[in-house]
Amino acid sequence: VPRSFFVNEPDTDWALAANRGWVEAIREQWHKVQEEEVIAVPLVINGEILAQDRPVVDCHDPSRPGMLVGRYVRGVAEDAHRALTAATADTDGWRRLNSRERHRVLSQAAMALRAARADLVGMAMAETGKICTEADIEVSEAIDFTELYPLAASEFDTLPNVQLSGQGTVLVIAPWNFPIAIPCGGIAAALAAGNTVIFKPSSDAVLTGYRLCQCFWEAGVSQKTLQFLPCSGADVAPILTADERVSAIILTGGTETGLRILAQSPGVYLAAETGGKNATIVTDMADRDQAVKNVLHSAFSNSGQKCSATSLLILEKTVYDDSRFRRQLVDAAASIQVGSAWDFATRLGPLIRPPAGELLRGLTTLEAGEEWALAPTMVNGNPQLWSPGIKYGVRPGSFTHLTELFGPVLGVMRAENLNEAINLVNQTGYGLTSGLESLDTREQETWKARIRAGNLYINRSTTGAIVLRQPFGGMGKSSLGPGLKAGSIEYVSQFMCVTETEPPA
Ligand code: SER
Repeated sequence: VPRSFFVNEPDTDWALAANRGWVEAIREQWHKVQEEEVIAVPLVINGEILAQDRPVVDCHDPSRPGMLVGRYVRGVAEDAHRALTAATADTDGWRRLNSRERHRVLSQAAMALRAARADLVGMAMAETGKICTEADIEVSEAIDFTELYPLAASEFDTLPNVQLSGQGTVLVIAPWNFPIAIPCGGIAAALAAGNTVIFKPSSDAVLTGYRLCQCFWEAGVSQKTLQFLPCSGADVAPILTADERVSAIILTGGTETGLRILAQSPGVYLAAETGGKNATIVTDMADRDQAVKNVLHSAFSNSGQKCSATSLLILEKTVYDDSRFRRQLVDAAASIQVGSAWDFATRLGPLIRPPAGELLRGLTTLEAGEEWALAPTMVNGNPQLWSPGIKYGVRPGSFTHLTELFGPVLGVMRAENLNEAINLVNQTGYGLTSGLESLDTREQETWKARIRAGNLYINRSTTGAIVLRQPFGGMGKSSLGPGLKAGSIEYVSQFMCVTETEPPA
């Protein structure tokens, strides 16, 4: 696809007072909602509303613990079977459309997403605690996916001597930390390739997932073509993942979940983007002011709850021992405004739930050799709200070095030189994103040649990949499956079937 065909959707310009006012309006709307009028998401399978004998689940606002913001009807085992039967039957004939017809419908879906920006941002803020600027970039990314994938599919369709079609039904299992862009990317890719879709949203992001589906439904993708099925990951999702009528699964989630699916259904086509333990290396040749800014954004945006987040900072010894750099890093981190996602000034909002397990350990304990350069603390008595933590003295092979924590804690390690720093990064076994802060082109070349990660960023933060400019995907423990990158032209092709046709005589 010629790049000039595709233009990235612009984010909201927050310098304009009118746009900041727009967020204020969303906030007011969500704060005046009374319990009896919270959003109620129905369960609609194959166009039929199903409510009886199914659990109704409450959705709460992480910024206001205990505050109800919505309810949804959760699908049960028989709903999984219904959705599978309906998606396979494809009675509305989505698979029979040609790629240009699908492109037309999906362009309408992109328009619907544009119109739903405020709703989507508000929902992500309300149920996941994401701050508005972070939710806003997700809407742009969602629109980009919805524009790019059908464009790419149409181009594949012009290849000589082959006929392309969808494979059948694609299951999209999405996470809560990118509740708009990631599910939308999976849905758009699967639809663009000519498949019907069953979308299982994260239980923590059902309201946003439903609003997303409405955009596709409004555009003309029927409720039979795109099935929305909020359900338990433990009991009902395995029915979907194990069913041989599912031709492919797009998963963004934990490495464990991906491995479980593969163990259960070894033959399934799984495109999975899993965990990350990403590092940024800062060498003696870095612009240290710039490094501080990039590292803090990489580590603490979305409270560190990104698979792409930097959770290890590996400093070449001169930088590690530089007390000015340490002070600058700590002062800047301490100045990050922590608070409710509804406050426009907040830069670090609440966690999806109170920290437990490994994250709690990472936030509250030190291992041998470690010291807090900045100790994290609970804020405003909200167990979901934590200020950023920075641990110096992390040792090779330790818990902090090797464990994905998914929260606002950054471990800092000392390396003799760039090569040792690269070894420390590669030892994690993950390989999603990686950052280098260095102005030296020889160092950049060495790092690029040796680092094992899917997305490499030099003198830039490690999060926030832009569709088509920075296709996104990992290696090692960060990826399961063939590893085609999201936001690339090729991504959509993995959900298509290719039949060779006779060349013209
Ligand atoms: N694509 C996101 C990022 O780059 C992560 O899923 O941060």
